[in-house]
Amino acid sequence: MRADYSALAQTIGALTEGETDHVSLMATVVCELHHSDDRFDWTGFYRVTEPGMLKIGPYQGGHGCLKIPFSRGVCGAAARTEQAQLVMDVNAFEGHIACASSTQSEIVLPVTDQSGALLGVLDIDSDLPAAFTQEDVDHLQKILHQVFAGDGCINKP
Ligand code: SME
Repeated sequence: MRADYSALAQTIGALTEGETDHVSLMATVVCELHHSDDRFDWTGFYRVTEPGMLKIGPYQGGHGCLKIPFSRGVCGAAARTEQAQLVMDVNAFEGHIACASSTQSEIVLPVTDQSGALLGVLDIDSDLPAAFTQEDVDHLQKILHQVFAGDGCINKP
């Protein structure tokens, strides 16, 4: 099963309409994403809780590490650079943090609010090698923007 991003955008838009609490939004997005695609073995948010530090947010899958400094791991790289990280082989990524030894590839996207401030990152890990493509990055980024930057377009065709 592969994510139907258009259907996901509609469902997530309907579920989160009018909600502004970030944790509630993150929990809903994670739940919808995690069950939509067989490649998604761990799906979760890390939140910026103090300068230079990420802490675990809502997630689905096995337990994730609680804290990740911006200087470490794929999540840290996404937070530091505010650029999506598409990692085909986690073993080849210097500084990768292995919360689960089964993880082979991952995608991490920055999450920003309406003002452009960094709220955290969305991390999706797969037990399959090279599971993700730029297409996943583009679709996921659009959903994140619509939910957290609140441009309100998610429910509009
Ligand atoms: N893989 C991430 C760490 C988080 S977990 O895998 C849940 C990283 O290197 O940033």
